[in-house]
Amino acid sequence: MTRIIAITNQKGGVGKTTTCVNLGATLSEMGYQVLVIDFDPQGNATSGSGVLKTTIEHDVRGLLLGESTFRETCILGTEAGYDLLPSDIQLTEAEVGLIGQARAQFRLKDVLAEQAESYDFVLIDCPPALSMLTINGLIAADGVIVPVQCEFFALEGIAALIETIDQVRGSHNPELVIDGVLRTMYDPRTSLTRQVSQQLEQFFGEQVFKTVIPRNVRLAEAPSHGLPVLRYDRLSKGALSYLALASELRKRLKLKKAA
Ligand SMILES: Nc1ncnc2c1ncn2[C@@H]1O[C@H](COP(=O)(O)OP(=O)(O)OP(=O)(O)O)[C@@H](O)[C@H]1O
Ligand SMILES: [Mg+2]
Repeated sequence: MTRIIAITNQKGGVGKTTTCVNLGATLSEMGYQVLVIDFDPQGNATSGSGVLKTTIEHDVRGLLLGESTFRETCILGTEAGYDLLPSDIQLTEAEVGLIGQARAQFRLKDVLAEQAESYDFVLIDCPPALSMLTINGLIAADGVIVPVQCEFFALEGIAALIETIDQVRGSHNPELVIDGVLRTMYDPRTSLTRQVSQQLEQFFGEQVFKTVIPRNVRLAEAPSHGLPVLRYDRLSKGALSYLALASELRKRLKLKKAA
């Protein structure tokens, strides 16, 4: 069984890419087959996986537009352990190129229909926008992880995101669920963090992961070395928190341990 998870929040800088890369690396170290899809023209998940954007021959843009194949595009066995569909700024062209095309919103789902079964997990790093790309991600996904930074404006965009998820569920993907809401850059010393965290628990209840990702400088440093934190400093609080998250997710999805 493959679990396709879109990691999404239209608010920028909340830890989507950090979660995608580090959860992906942790799950692959646990023995699962993992594919990470960089679905953001910023290409942060690509560089954070140790792939130089200048060396990419085929990217998600070409894949979505039908110009290249999955096999041509997929980078097998990155430094982070998982396979990667890389992106760079050209992905913005796909948004324009897809306008008016048949099944524009289903492009990622169509690509994955033939390929996803080789993987236990497919993690989609969505861009900070409720754009055509994010809709493609939500239509292709089984579940959504919403990273939220426990700060003042954190909750403002959440209603719009939930509405979008509901719309996608209502129109194209009835099985779509929220796999979890993840508190990131968590600093329990500040009362604001605690306050926002409580509000999240009231609003989302059990959907909020028990695991929190603390603010941890190792998590911020690791991408500049092109490594997941597990490879950069495996005893750091950041690495341990993503290990805990991977275990919680596995239990939540009632998955067997990887063989
Ligand atoms: N737990 C953390 N502790 C410290 N720094 C973090 C943590 N999580 C993320 N960061 C840093 O915060 C910044 C934003 O994180 P990240 O790129 O993961 O967010 P994002 O939601 O993907 O951003 P965007 O919306 O631009 O795609 C990055 O510089 C990252 O290294
Ligand atoms: Mg990002």
